[in-house]
Amino acid sequence: MTAWLSDAEVVRRLFAHMDRGGTDLAEGVWREPVAHYRSPDRYAAELALLRGSATAFCPSAALPDTGSHLARTAAGTPLVAARGADGRVRVFRNACRHRGARVVEGDGCSKAFVCRYHGWTYGLDGALRHVPHPDGFPDLDRPGRGLVALPTIETHGLVFVTQDPDGAADPGLDEWPVLVPAGNRLVQAADQELPVNWKVFAESFLEGYHIRSTHRDTFYPVQYDNLNVVEHVGPYTRITFPYRAIERLRGRPAAEWRIEGKLTYVYHVFPNVMIATFPHFVFMVAIEPLAIDRTRFLTWITTAGARGDPASDAPAEPRLRVTPAEGAALIAAGAAEDNAAAIAVQEGLASGANAWLEFGRSEGALQHFHRTLRAALAARGVAPEATA
Ligand code: FES
Ligand SMILES: [Fe+2]
Repeated sequence: MTAWLSDAEVVRRLFAHMDRGGTDLAEGVWREPVAHYRSPDRYAAELALLRGSATAFCPSAALPDTGSHLARTAAGTPLVAARGADGRVRVFRNACRHRGARVVEGDGCSKAFVCRYHGWTYGLDGALRHVPHPDGFPDLDRPGRGLVALPTIETHGLVFVTQDPDGAADPGLDEWPVLVPAGNRLVQAADQELPVNWKVFAESFLEGYHIRSTHRDTFYPVQYDNLNVVEHVGPYTRITFPYRAIERLRGRPAAEWRIEGKLTYVYHVFPNVMIATFPHFVFMVAIEPLAIDRTRFLTWITTAGARGDPASDAPAEPRLRVTPAEGAALIAAGAAEDNAAAIAVQEGLASGANAWLEFGRSEGALQHFHRTLRAALAARGVAPEATA
């Protein structure tokens, strides 16, 4: 498949599943060795893959103005993204060219980056602009000592970067819908950690087989158990989670079907980013391995709605029947349930019970994740563990 299904095709497939009590099924099952979550060599190879891949760094909405910047680590490397006076976003290694200190922390808006250590100052384009007491550096090659820029591209409402200086930042999303609409504003950004392997955390987004068991009082009342459309385009996956409100589209002509408030799309922007569409919001989650059993996740919530934060109680559009505050509270409660499940899985990895984990036919998005990861690592000479 080279493109995602249209919204109407997704809805038709969901209705067909509802009528038959089915869901999208993969051809077979997948066994993933537990060693792939516990082997330091495998973990090191995955980090190297993350550094060498085009990965989504943040939504464009996190860098709205000239001078907007966002510093964070990506696969362990300190980076900073900044929007220049020319409107372009550049991503630099966040390391001073004097002695390597970070030149900026966190996010904000500024005209230049001033290293806290000795005051070397860089422009938004990375150029070295000022060195205090320059007689200490008589032969300084200023043009050659700007911040080190990495291949970067802004597309589909996201900023992509690769840490491979000779690599391509373009993730090849050409035919995709825009993931974060251009007019969306950032309303909330968060930065959290969990004591789990990064893949265990990623897996919690990618199947609907757990909706009834895990989300009995949160998502299950408004969604369905084990009822999804799962699509793959290259390394990427889109999984559709319908809401019960989708029934209201039945009996109406397909040309009038509007999916907002009727389903959630989760895009797995391989390897480590999820984009989820909700009524009122688009979420981005960047999943950053900190250690083999520790993961940082950065979340950005953007909205096309009026100014305010998602905790506001602005009236819902009548057809959505949920206010932004109610929606945000529900999503937070569901996420807490997913996180508890991920921690339980992580503890189970060490239990000795399983040599491999099994992803069933209705967990096709997880199968695709691991198949794609395995192939990408194999291309780098990393062989999988046996599952026998
Ligand atoms: S390390 Fe940045 S100015 Fe010295
Ligand atoms: Fe979940």
